Amino acid sequence: MKILVVGSGGREHAITWRLAQDETKHELFCAPGNAGTAAIATNIAVGAEDVPGVVAWAVANKPDLVVVGPEAPLCKGLVDELAKIGVKAFGPPLAGARMEGSKAFAKEIMKAAGVPTGRAETFTDAAKAKAALPAYGLPVVIKADGLAAGKGVIIAETQADAEAAIDDMLVGNKFGAAGAEVLLEEFLVGEECSILALVDGEHAVLLPSSQDHKRIFDGDKGPNTGGMGAYSPAPVVTADRLPFIRDTIILPVVRELKKRGIVYKGVLYAGLMINNVPGGKPAASGSDVNVVEFNARFGDPETEAVLPRIGGDFAKILLACAEGTLKDADVVIKDDCAATVIISSGGYPGSYEKGKEITGLEAANAVSGAMVFHCGTKAADGKVLTAGGRVLSVTGMGATLREAVDTAYKAVDKIAFDQAFHRKDIAHRAFERG
Ligand code: AMP
Ligand code: GLY
Repeated sequence: MKILVVGSGGREHAITWRLAQDETKHELFCAPGNAGTAAIATNIAVGAEDVPGVVAWAVANKPDLVVVGPEAPLCKGLVDELAKIGVKAFGPPLAGARMEGSKAFAKEIMKAAGVPTGRAETFTDAAKAKAALPAYGLPVVIKADGLAAGKGVIIAETQADAEAAIDDMLVGNKFGAAGAEVLLEEFLVGEECSILALVDGEHAVLLPSSQDHKRIFDGDKGPNTGGMGAYSPAPVVTADRLPFIRDTIILPVVRELKKRGIVYKGVLYAGLMINNVPGGKPAASGSDVNVVEFNARFGDPETEAVLPRIGGDFAKILLACAEGTLKDADVVIKDDCAATVIISSGGYPGSYEKGKEITGLEAANAVSGAMVFHCGTKAADGKVLTAGGRVLSVTGMGATLREAVDTAYKAVDKIAFDQAFHRKDIAHRAFERG
């Protein structure tokens, strides 16, 4: 198959790498890709958010499938534009991508579909939002409706902080149009996990569970990042929960969207809160599994931990989602565990320097069971340079989670660049369970 992967991060490198593992060999392209994808695919000079550019390339090159990595092109309607020229895509249309692009829309769908989630209301008026605060208690969650680069969620511990967050968004315009509408949401207690579901408009297949590490420092301290590591499976998601998640969360959403004329294809990513805290405050929904958010794409770095666990012909699976034939697809999950460690530039998620030479990539890839995915890199004069906050995503596989983590860190230790940083406690929640 001729396949174009849209995006340039660790997620897109992992998708391209996984496609390259298929027994049937494909012709792989990335728009724009990175120094890692360049080794296994042809990078084309078209930006991931350049919808007309991707469409023009598709008209000229007639790919069998376009796999869209990030949310931005989905929310710009890339899949709709590709459909107009008869090109199949893995990813939802713009109307479906609103599950990620608008938190108010996602809540409306969940409410209509009876999906357990935190109680929430939307406001455009700051005084009305503040008047509603007491009903939520503390802490309370304040969210900007739209895409705000992961910064639009404030967990306010005091009334004053909650009021300040409301003012920042509705009066101060801190997030621009994304914050013109805000949600007040019930604070949910428990442990978070990610479920990536493959969807073909009607059917869904749940991929193995995973857990992200959003804070920059060990022990989940410091500011939020795009994700500093992940592992799969996440033991907080016990096997008995999976049918509930599929039948009470994923499928009702897919059906509700279909009822509204939205054929959702691609990944429906559910960020879930599992209330496993003994005596923890029960959620208003009455369920101990609640949706925190939906995303319309593969998670990053979850993808780097989940995709190496998928067997079979990956291109066929993705095409089945695009064609609506997922019911007949063979999705094989390997028993092996996976752990992913992100190596970032010193200073990230604040300001950081770029252009540092990376050494040890070959040695890291040579570690048995390890794979190095590039997140923010650039090739120049035969060298690989840092080009982003998150630079590399190093995955280790193993028969146990401990082995997977050890393999990942063994590979991480081979890699060096000036001011490189990584967390040393990936999968700590799984190990704390004993
Ligand atoms: P979101 O962008 O909605 O995923 O929110 C970002 C992060 O904020 C989540 O990963 C959670 O850690 C936290 N969060 C969001 N909503 C809630 C909630 N209702 N209760 C507790 N934590 C939340
Ligand atoms: N790992 C979180 C995300 O992809 O949104």
